[in-house]
Amino acid sequence: MDTLATEKKAASAGNSADFLPLKNWDHIEFYCGNAKQSAFYYQYAMGFKLTAYSGLETGNRERASYLLEQGKIKFVLTTPYHPDNFISDHIKQHGDGVRDIALEVDDAESAFNETVKRGAVPVMEPTKIEDESGFIIRSAIKTYGDTLHSFIQRNNYKGLFLPGFVDASAKAVQGIKDAGLRSVDHMVGNVELGKMNFWVKFYGETMGFSQLLSFDDKDISTEYTALMSKVMQNGTGKIKFPINEPAAGKKKSQIDEYLEFYHGAGVQHIAMNTTNIVETVSELKRRGVEFLRVPTTYYKELEARVGKIDEDIDELAKHGILVDRDDDGYLLQLFSKPIEDRPTVFFEIIQRKGAKSFGKGNFKALFEAIEREQEIRGTL
Ligand code: FE2
Repeated sequence: MDTLATEKKAASAGNSADFLPLKNWDHIEFYCGNAKQSAFYYQYAMGFKLTAYSGLETGNRERASYLLEQGKIKFVLTTPYHPDNFISDHIKQHGDGVRDIALEVDDAESAFNETVKRGAVPVMEPTKIEDESGFIIRSAIKTYGDTLHSFIQRNNYKGLFLPGFVDASAKAVQGIKDAGLRSVDHMVGNVELGKMNFWVKFYGETMGFSQLLSFDDKDISTEYTALMSKVMQNGTGKIKFPINEPAAGKKKSQIDEYLEFYHGAGVQHIAMNTTNIVETVSELKRRGVEFLRVPTTYYKELEARVGKIDEDIDELAKHGILVDRDDDGYLLQLFSKPIEDRPTVFFEIIQRKGAKSFGKGNFKALFEAIEREQEIRGTL
């Protein structure tokens, strides 16, 4: 590892159209208490494939990391070997959770310089990391809570994943069937009361994103709770980050509950695309993944609300799949229960049939379903 001379190449000025061109999601890294066992959950329950590993056997004395892949989705699960480091502190504070939303770029040095110049807090200067398969350049900045954005430049790397990782097929569970998850659709952050606009400004001014949508407490409220949300997206529209904050309500909202149990701001959910939500959800349920349920009355007026859809409504009702329509088409979506003991991170399974929006029409039914779960947990 060596830190690149930052003066090597000034970021190309004049190209103000998109000063932070992002190629795609690179990977999402979770810090967790026992990555070896969590890797089984992602394989058996979620249909991911364990493909790469870094740990004691590969000379990594600090941490064990497992790469799990499905479609284009890459999750890295990391556990520290010792208590005196940031990873252990992160787990103590937050439980298992997302540490890094890593983004693939053509130029990790420029991504770092351009964002730090615009106020981003630097975490890792552009650094060359290599092994026998070539090198990557990696840099990182802070976002909300203890969450990071790493910028990964991998055009000079031919290896499996990142330098230091080796093939893990011998450790992988054999015969695991994929669940049809294809790519990350969006990732949502929960931030503290009054901080939504701060982070909207961060994604706007520091990262060059634009605001796609805004929902206030009139859009997203039930009898008891409310929240506010703004959706930021990058220039290509590939990377979308909705940001939520709690809003005043009669009872404690799901965002308050998250903030209390995560002990701060962090990633609330990861939405993943499928091309057949009925099949994906049936498969995930069969393997033990738990989803939220809306009352059957949701389906009574469904066709009147969203118009004709290709799917069989009884089949959607059987699985509790939600439908919403916008000007461009419709979408089907379903939310898991929290994926760990703390009521924090969860997954969304989404199938887009033209629609580019975020299921505003489902917010009320969805939040009432969450409130029923909160009530059982004693956190409403
Ligand atoms: Fe979502």
